[in-house]
Amino acid sequence: MALPEAWLNELMSKNDIASVVSEYIQLTPRGGRLWGHCPFHADKKPSLSVTPDKQLFHCFSCKAGGSVIQFIMQVENLSYIDAIRNLAQRAGMDMPDEIDDKKLLEQKRRRELIYQANREAALFYCKALFSSDGGGARRYLEKRGVSAETAKRFGLGFSPDGFDGLYKHLTALGYSRDTLIDAGLVIPGRKDPSQSFDFFRGRLMFPVISASGRVIAFGGRTMGNDEPKYINTGDTPVYNKRENIYGINLLKGKKIDDIIMVEGYMDVIALHQYGIDNAVASLGTALTSQQARLLKRYASKVYYAYDGDEAGQKAMLRGIDILSSAEIEPRVIVIPDGNDPDEYIRGFGSDSFLILKDSSITGVRFKLERMAKLSGIDTPDGRDKFAKEACALLATLDPVERDRYIPYVSETSGIIKETIREQCGIPVRAAANKTVHARYNNYKKPKADNERIGCEKKLLSCIMTSPDAGNSIGRGKNFSLSLFSSKNMRSFCARLLAMYSTSTRVDIPLMLAELEGDASDEVSSAYAAADDIADPVSCAEDIIAKLKFISLKAELSELSEKAKAADSPDKKADIIKEYSTKYALLQTLSKQHGELI
Ligand code: CTP
Ligand code: MN
Repeated sequence: MALPEAWLNELMSKNDIASVVSEYIQLTPRGGRLWGHCPFHADKKPSLSVTPDKQLFHCFSCKAGGSVIQFIMQVENLSYIDAIRNLAQRAGMDMPDEIDDKKLLEQKRRRELIYQANREAALFYCKALFSSDGGGARRYLEKRGVSAETAKRFGLGFSPDGFDGLYKHLTALGYSRDTLIDAGLVIPGRKDPSQSFDFFRGRLMFPVISASGRVIAFGGRTMGNDEPKYINTGDTPVYNKRENIYGINLLKGKKIDDIIMVEGYMDVIALHQYGIDNAVASLGTALTSQQARLLKRYASKVYYAYDGDEAGQKAMLRGIDILSSAEIEPRVIVIPDGNDPDEYIRGFGSDSFLILKDSSITGVRFKLERMAKLSGIDTPDGRDKFAKEACALLATLDPVERDRYIPYVSETSGIIKETIREQCGIPVRAAANKTVHARYNNYKKPKADNERIGCEKKLLSCIMTSPDAGNSIGRGKNFSLSLFSSKNMRSFCARLLAMYSTSTRVDIPLMLAELEGDASDEVSSAYAAADDIADPVSCAEDIIAKLKFISLKAELSELSEKAKAADSPDKKADIIKEYSTKYALLQTLSKQHGELI
């Protein structure tokens, strides 16, 4: 018996191999896979691995392997067709009618006709865009900054505002009404189902093209303010929106290091027009595992650049996990001021967008920042809540990866690193116990300059660590007292350096005792951090670079605001030039000192 391909695909996607296998054996993640004791032989150590993005299992010991179907066949001792029945039952799917090869051929022929009809429709829309009918649509594109060249590259079009222009055109070419309805191009009249209407009318048209270069669907945008803003082809025999990615056809044959994932048609188009040719869109839906698998064929790193609204943030959150399970490294580009990528790149150009990309954050950092935001870290309860949630997340990471985030979680929650480590299930070294301070000692209400103050404290604590280090840092060409924005720390540092150069023994606790109020708090907490510093000289060099980095970043964001407000193109060009120079400096600093952000 032959089973329809689409039905089998649905069966496989509804029976995720990891969840099916984990009903039989316990699976634990390691190295991007899941591991468990193989049920097909006496397995002492876990040698069966499940790779979710490939939807395969394999036992490294007895060599059993295959898809979820083979797993069920072996574990339940069933024939192929009975295993399928078992899986269909789990997924709540009816077994399809048995189909013979003739039926399969017929399905294939039908799909082929739909592909052809879609292609003809795309040509029809395209022609309409560049005809006298398309004047309004061309002006709309111009208003949105889309050049004619870009419009052609993306095969954009216009669906004329009649009732059945496309229907007439395609039936005249010999396509049957059924084919056009199957393709989603034509719909039967609501009152009189024998009538035929074009599905897309009076809209700007975006063809969706598959990886193999075939037109599989369309999106149509209104050019006015009426709702819905977009309408899209529904599922058809050649299109399932959960499996396709807009713009995937343009990645083919290109050497790309990563992919930029945006929300909408216009975002992809704008980025490409500005030379960023690795942008694709998941088209308004949350990313699915099938889409992630498709992406994995082109790159193993994806930068999310979704809209800053709540829907976009939530979609990224889910998408990050989906990308990770497909073994794709997720990063997030944060676009300021609620702009979408299209608005941003048109406002600030591709250099600025690439700068945002360079300062993207990891998927984990994105999640942590969101947790902090939602927990309300202004209150002790909120900080506890944040710390607990954050540690639960960190506990799922590899130890090496986890270590990168401990400083952030500690700083944000005000809870010392040792406690954070312990909460993540990492044993605390005995030696670390001796420097336990009150839990919230190092918490400071987040201010715009929080990061800067943190760095200044660290720099001061490097200088406090040893007179030798203090002398060499203090005389270094990159150091200057103006690095301290805090008056308290600046004046303490000045006194300390003066003492180092004149006396052989400097009693820091005594100096601290002489301080008052704010100054005492600030400098003491810097001193408390001094124990953690192994190599004060190189640590100070990094911090000095980081302080420069922070100032530069502030200057860059100021320039970016200025560019936005610039009232003449010349002024704007000047600002962008200054921006680029400062940005280059930022890059150099960042390269010399590793990942500073
Ligand atoms: N979308 C949709 N139907 C809608 C709204 C949105 O299918 N009613 C999809 C479209 O694929 C759209 C994407 O979700 O491109 C993102 O939506 P949105 O951010 O609202 O649109 P933009 O792409 O920014 O479109 P524009 O800039 O033209 O307003
Ligand atoms: Mn937009």
